[in-house]
Amino acid sequence: MTTPKVMIRCLQPDEWRLLKTLRLRALACDPESYWETVDEASARDDLYWNTCASRVTTPQGSRMFIVEHAEIVAAFVFGVKKDHDEYSVGGLWVDPAHRRKGFGSLLAQQVVTWARADSPAAVIRLWCHTGSALAFYRRNGFQSLDRFRTHDLDGRRIVEMEWRGTRWPSGSNPPRKRADRAPKNPRDPAKSPD
Ligand SMILES: CC(C)(COP(=O)(O)OP(=O)(O)OC[C@H]1O[C@@H](n2cnc3c(N)ncnc32)[C@H](O)[C@@H]1OP(=O)(O)O)[C@@H](O)C(=O)NCCC(=O)NCCS
Repeated sequence: MTTPKVMIRCLQPDEWRLLKTLRLRALACDPESYWETVDEASARDDLYWNTCASRVTTPQGSRMFIVEHAEIVAAFVFGVKKDHDEYSVGGLWVDPAHRRKGFGSLLAQQVVTWARADSPAAVIRLWCHTGSALAFYRRNGFQSLDRFRTHDLDGRRIVEMEWRGTRWPSGSNPPRKRADRAPKNPRDPAKSPD
């Protein structure tokens, strides 16, 4: 018996339909984990999804990393490049059939590696629902910044976290830029995904 191959790759420019399918699947499967609802996302037109795909496939821009297991998508994440050495992890989702196999950690670390290769001064943050994913992110080197947002409609809370996996080269803390800024539009998966 052969072990199925696990591959990690980036979304390609012509794959906007795949981005849409995966995002809708994640929102439908784990609605409590994301700020955006599946109804909101389903109502978006093709131009929106095309634009998202462009944002994560332009050279030097943001990225969508995909884990394929036996050539089927098992997990994905957005690595979002903002201004001034700021990066974020967004929209992370692992297919329930593949959870607790390390795929989520693989993708979280992939974003960290990618951001730090892009800028040695990278500050990597994310917004996490205050549920079980907190333990997951802590284990992956993220710490809470104790900054919270509460959903207007259902009262769900998300907390901002920052990657502190290793010391910065100089031994000092990484630069903190616009630390108090909440995501401009947490509903756009290619801009500031949750
Ligand atoms: C959170 C999520 C991404 C984790 O992915 P995963 O591939 O299962 O994670 P890993 O296998 O890399 O987990 C590594 C460790 O994280 C922690 N962890 C992962 N899921 C956990 C959970 N549900 N509860 C508590 N700890 C958890 C554990 O310490 C785990 O190690 P262990 O299996 O030895 O106990 C996945 O469960 C998921 O997609 N959840 C729904 C969507 C979501 O919450 N996304 C994050 C948005 S903020």
